[in-house]
Amino acid sequence: MSEVVRYEVEDGIAVITIDNPPVNALGAGVSEGVVAGADRAAADPAVQAVVLIGAGRSFIAGADIRRFGTKRETPTRRSYDALEASPKPVVAAIHGFALGGGLENALCCTWRIAVPEARIGLPEVLIGIIPGGGGTQRLPRVAGVKAALEMITSGRHVPAPEAKFLGIIDELVETGDLRAAAIAFARSIAGKGLRRVGEIPPPAAEAGLFEAQRKVIARKARGQPAPFAAIAAVEAATRLPLAEGLAEERRLFAELENSPEARALRYAFFAEREVAKLPHLPKDTPTPEIRRVAVVGAGTMGGGIAMSLADAGIPVKLMDASPEGLTRGLQKIRDNYAVSVKRGSLTQAEMDRRLPLIEPVEGYDAIADCDAVIEAVFEQLPAKQEVFRGLDAVMKPGALLFTNTSALDIDQIAAATGRPEAVAGTHFFAPANVMKLFEVVEGAKTAPATLLAAMKLGRAIGKVSAYAGTCDGFVANRSRIPFGLEQNLMVEEGARPEQIDRVMTAFGYPMGPFAVNDLSGLDVNYMTRKRRAAADPNYRKWPVADRLVEMGRKGQKTGAGWYRYEPGDRTPHPDPIVDQIAREVAAELGIEQRSFTDEEILHRLLFASVNEACRILAEGKALRASDIDVMWLNGFGFPRYRGGLMFWADGIGAREIYNQIAAWHQRYGARWAPAPLLREIAEAGGSLREAKAPQLRNG
Ligand code: COA
Repeated sequence: MSEVVRYEVEDGIAVITIDNPPVNALGAGVSEGVVAGADRAAADPAVQAVVLIGAGRSFIAGADIRRFGTKRETPTRRSYDALEASPKPVVAAIHGFALGGGLENALCCTWRIAVPEARIGLPEVLIGIIPGGGGTQRLPRVAGVKAALEMITSGRHVPAPEAKFLGIIDELVETGDLRAAAIAFARSIAGKGLRRVGEIPPPAAEAGLFEAQRKVIARKARGQPAPFAAIAAVEAATRLPLAEGLAEERRLFAELENSPEARALRYAFFAEREVAKLPHLPKDTPTPEIRRVAVVGAGTMGGGIAMSLADAGIPVKLMDASPEGLTRGLQKIRDNYAVSVKRGSLTQAEMDRRLPLIEPVEGYDAIADCDAVIEAVFEQLPAKQEVFRGLDAVMKPGALLFTNTSALDIDQIAAATGRPEAVAGTHFFAPANVMKLFEVVEGAKTAPATLLAAMKLGRAIGKVSAYAGTCDGFVANRSRIPFGLEQNLMVEEGARPEQIDRVMTAFGYPMGPFAVNDLSGLDVNYMTRKRRAAADPNYRKWPVADRLVEMGRKGQKTGAGWYRYEPGDRTPHPDPIVDQIAREVAAELGIEQRSFTDEEILHRLLFASVNEACRILAEGKALRASDIDVMWLNGFGFPRYRGGLMFWADGIGAREIYNQIAAWHQRYGARWAPAPLLREIAEAGGSLREAKAPQLRNG
């Protein structure tokens, strides 16, 4: 047998165990090992039935994603063929995950049993491909076309009880050891005949189903071929005998494997795993447990933070400076949950479980025994420092003190306490209970254990934790600011907001940047800009945006911002007043207005951010370029199928970007000064997405 697959026989039942840590991906030797096991069981007259099971934490998490896009030999026989051809019944015993090739192997077994906590699915579309091991042909044969289509086009992980309901799982193993239960099950069905999924005739689909599904996914799958290819493959299952359907699936799979979207999505998958790692910290750093959390400040942000903790089952004490603020905040939380129940995205029972986890309290003494506090009060340094002084006075030793500031200096906040080692930033993105990005900010004195605990807390509440060093705007917003600046300056130069929005939605953003500004409210960043302008005499102001706010045009909530809105309708309508303000500002500043090509708009916005990302990396404020990509994917709606800012930039090439930035430096002045790291990468012909902070470069 191979090193990653074991074979044992127990009382007439052969047990094939896949042992390829951490998640039993179908890496080198696994498929071969399963084939060898199936052959051995078939040839041994003493074996009556076979069990296929995974060691460790999972059944099989799917194909080894690292092997996609590489040259590899196609084996003469794949595990799917060997399992389905087995002359003896094979029981797939599932715990953890049976995803992609994992579920496809299970579908080639004659029976499938699972523990209730197991999850199954065909998530290939999430990495830009379709199942390539028969999933699109066999799943519709057991679950029906409609359910299979939904699963394959969404990539959803389906809980085992639901999979049983759909007919994919035959039996749930509620108690006891799965291996023992699988052997007992195998013994009970041995000799009772085979029921192969592949022998089920092509399933029928109701009229119009495929067309309807194409419409359902049209918006979300925009720019992505894989979900549409998945529909075509399932359609083939309804028309063709198995062998021909499998050939069609292979053909569609092969077309997608090296598509730009698949390469970008694979990159994003691994970038999101890499971002969790902080290799510059001492290896043996302990990670304190956080079981109970307090949130200080019951405004929009604090309320959203409390909800995201409660959603993950973490008890929260919520406090506010004023009793009215607390009452209002709690009511808002209740209303938010009630809206989700009304929309059907949350059950009443789930709301009733989450709401009591948020306990309103008064005064710091009431939170003193919490393991961590997240401060979310007004974004002004003195207010934050006062809170931290209060926390320092009461919190138990070892409690961790986090601030949700989006730009203030963590060190100045930490200086208000006698325990700066326990202070870090945990920066949520609005709305806090929805957005996935969780930026963990290290201050000069933050202890490694504090950082690791914050990273872990983010993951525990289902967010993507990403490290940032303290600096104005930290990593995510700082890398995004130049985009915002160019977006505004191009309007002065004659580009219209609607053109810029059109370019960016065509690029793949769900909304254009001006429409997003109108949605969030133009007054939000107005104050931050005032603060920056006061601190920096060279700060380039945004006069058009400022004038809109000063006219009372604060976005959707006031019926006008960059666009105008009809009452009760969120559709943005271009407004000539904005063009007029832009013309006035241009005249005052001596800027000549002109027209822009779509490409120039895209490049101006994104190159500006690539340049800043290089500075951030060179300063060691972000650890890896891929971390910045993860932030853009999870914080700003950057299209995932383009990988992220730096991955996309590599598609253009560091040299071309450097040359363009150098030209704009000549034309527009200092703000376009090329970052030295960009220049270095361009001259070396290197890759932007592989750029690392100095503290990681020698590791
Ligand atoms: N191929 C290669 N490596 C994989 C993998 C796969 N299919 N699935 C997981 N891994 C690796 C991860 O990169 C990570 O490696 P690292 O520790 O070196 O960073 C490790 O396994 C653990 O994965 P992680 O995602 O951190 O664990 P988790 O418990 O949070 O999630 C899964 C487990 C299986 C849900 C998740 O890893 C996943 O969705 N995997 C991909 C499944 C998939 O798409 N399969 C179909 C492929 S066609």
